[in-house]
Amino acid sequence: MKPRFLQPSHIELDKAALVNNIRFLKERAENGVRLSSVIKGNAYGHGISAFLPMAEEAGFDHFSVFSANEAEAAIRFRNNPDTRVMIMGMIRNEELEWAIEQGVEFYIFEEERLKSAAAIAKKAGKKASVHLQIETGMNRTGFDEKNWEALFSFVYQNREYINLCGICTHFAGAESVANFYRIQNQEKKLRKAVAVAEKFIELPAVHAASSAAYLSYPEKHFDMARIGIAQYGFWPSRETYMYHMKSEKLEQGSDPLKRVLTWKSEIMSLKEVEGGEFIGYGNVYLAGRNMKIATVPIGYTHGFGRNLTNSGYVLINGERCGVVGLVNMNMITINVSNLEHVKKGDEVVLIGRQGGDEITVASFGEMTNNLNYEVLTRLPSTIPRIVC
Ligand SMILES: Cc1ncc(COP(=O)(O)O)c(C=O)c1O
Repeated sequence: MKPRFLQPSHIELDKAALVNNIRFLKERAENGVRLSSVIKGNAYGHGISAFLPMAEEAGFDHFSVFSANEAEAAIRFRNNPDTRVMIMGMIRNEELEWAIEQGVEFYIFEEERLKSAAAIAKKAGKKASVHLQIETGMNRTGFDEKNWEALFSFVYQNREYINLCGICTHFAGAESVANFYRIQNQEKKLRKAVAVAEKFIELPAVHAASSAAYLSYPEKHFDMARIGIAQYGFWPSRETYMYHMKSEKLEQGSDPLKRVLTWKSEIMSLKEVEGGEFIGYGNVYLAGRNMKIATVPIGYTHGFGRNLTNSGYVLINGERCGVVGLVNMNMITINVSNLEHVKKGDEVVLIGRQGGDEITVASFGEMTNNLNYEVLTRLPSTIPRIVC
């Protein structure tokens, strides 16, 4: 049943921004490389149910998830039955049968899983669509070199049950030039594995790049790139952004990627507070003068962190206004003393643009390379997502 009442906030997804980002990414595709849209972590907080159909319409036909439960959601929300779904991580043996039945592609990085997949496929009378993950230097998951020959030989012998879709690895850390040699070595190792594979089997798609490697190393695109953060309009790191802007001689401060997500709420209440009074819990904020305060029905339960106490910003009437006092579980208090025409019900932007200003995801905490990823995926799945 549809809830009768609106939630205190909602997230808007800008389809035109996604279309822009896909165009930008496709323009950089070497030799027609296929792009897989990475939608793990609830589509990086954008909401898989709203994002996936929008991304299908915008041109994606391949989606990468982390686990079987995410694959199940992807299948539920896709509109095109030919849209492919690939599990890059967790799939239990008892979930393999379902994946094979549904035609879901999945990574294999252990012999035991490969054997189980072949056995289940044989029983089901349907091929398992697999991607063999190669250990190239990340040392997380992947087949070690000493097992490659046996691996490819097994796949060849069981070709009746195994549909080999890909040979893959992950160029992790490509967002920093500090990892340049590590990535070079990973590429060498991947090419070596591919050469070994070719002795046994027809070469399937090879894939290794995520957003950073895709944007910074065009020569390492191979046949498919798994694009997460960039499709949502964020750069994998500041370094990737600067490298791109310099190498393409683009104007400093401009940005070819457009943010897809905007998080909005509204003013719940307004109050005049006299100078010398404390605002909110404890003595966290002392009004130094007469102030006008807006209460916004957002708090740490919605992902607005307590670290933004006395330091975060929101946008109201196109102006940047500061959080004063503690971030509560469900409420924040905002200094709107400088806004002349502010009123109850006015739109409040927590992340995104309003007027000429923007609250970035990065402003939600200390600057670290992976901040965008973490903040986005922490946005609660209960906030409604609306495609605009
Ligand atoms: C295996 C794999 N491929 C691709 C991606 C997408 O990375 P990005 O969001 O940096 O494009 C991830 C994300 O962590 C991943 O784990």
